[in-house]
Amino acid sequence: MATPLHLEKLPKSLELVFSDDHAKLRYLDQRYLPNECRMVETEDWHDVCDAIAVLGVRGAPAIGIAGASAIAMWVENQAVIIDDNDFSEALQLVANDVIAVRPTAVNLKWAVDRTVAYALDLLDNGCPFEQMGSKVCSFVQELAANDESCNRAIGAAGAAVIPGDAKILTHCNAGSLATYFYGTALGVIYCAAEQGKVQRVYADETRPLGQGARLTVWELAQVGVPTTLICDNMAASLMAKGEIDCVVVGADRITSNGDTANKIGTYGVAILAKHHGIPFYVAAPSSTFDFALKTGNEIPIEQRADCEVLPEPIAGVDIYNPAFDVTPAELITAIITEKGVFAPSELSKLKELL
Ligand code: MRU
Repeated sequence: MATPLHLEKLPKSLELVFSDDHAKLRYLDQRYLPNECRMVETEDWHDVCDAIAVLGVRGAPAIGIAGASAIAMWVENQAVIIDDNDFSEALQLVANDVIAVRPTAVNLKWAVDRTVAYALDLLDNGCPFEQMGSKVCSFVQELAANDESCNRAIGAAGAAVIPGDAKILTHCNAGSLATYFYGTALGVIYCAAEQGKVQRVYADETRPLGQGARLTVWELAQVGVPTTLICDNMAASLMAKGEIDCVVVGADRITSNGDTANKIGTYGVAILAKHHGIPFYVAAPSSTFDFALKTGNEIPIEQRADCEVLPEPIAGVDIYNPAFDVTPAELITAIITEKGVFAPSELSKLKELL
């Protein structure tokens, strides 16, 4: 039976607004969910970098839009600079700082690079400095709107591969919160649910930061998708009982051969799915592909603070806390994109399309 969805209950995770000649980023600080929907507004690009670093804004496409917004905010404040060389050098330094905040999700670099190129193009074409802020803001707003369109296309393409009455496992949060709106992996689930194909979603808790427990289950509950939260170590027993029909996850970077970086723990879920003969799908927009890299071994993996794993240190105990792992292409059934569904071995076709 088709599930009536309440997408209107989801707040926009972030939005760049330009009013009274000022660029502002308004974002939902995800650290406070599910207890509080705290909206924050800033006009300072440094604050945006801080929000990305502490995961106030998180998820590959969302940090891309936030990073691009940081660039727009910086440009908007540069009306006083009159030397073109100073401007482009300073802009590139700011862009490097923004991209360095989180190194794994290539969407951040993708969106920042595009925004920088757009600003430099305006400069080359003689655009007066005082008009650049609003123009670069409009460009970022288009990037954001395009992210939502991609997610809806991913949802439609992915719903076609979801079997009827499906029990679906997901890991981390690749939902509306992680994008401008709608989500990638959860976009597939929303579209399939609207078609009456989803019996239940199982959400991994996602240690150490609990994106599944705090964000995914909250998001699915708002929208009205039947949801069960499990601890990360429970997926194997659910699969063994025949309770999972397919796995759908998001991605932070996908290399030419289909190797996929996503939240730590995804690799383990993919191995479990392979063992139990369960299809494992990755859902991601084209901005997540890094065709410059051949394999996942080349993906930089962000290491995060010890206190995320163990708030109080224990003398003599070291902590290992990579934020992401790489799932090898051979464990992935297909990658769902806004251009269609591709087996990892077919990615050269996607590259041509792009
Ligand atoms: O560290 P996070 O919370 O930003 O990690 C997010 C993920 O790993 C998501 O699965 C990925 O970014 C895809 S979001 C559409």
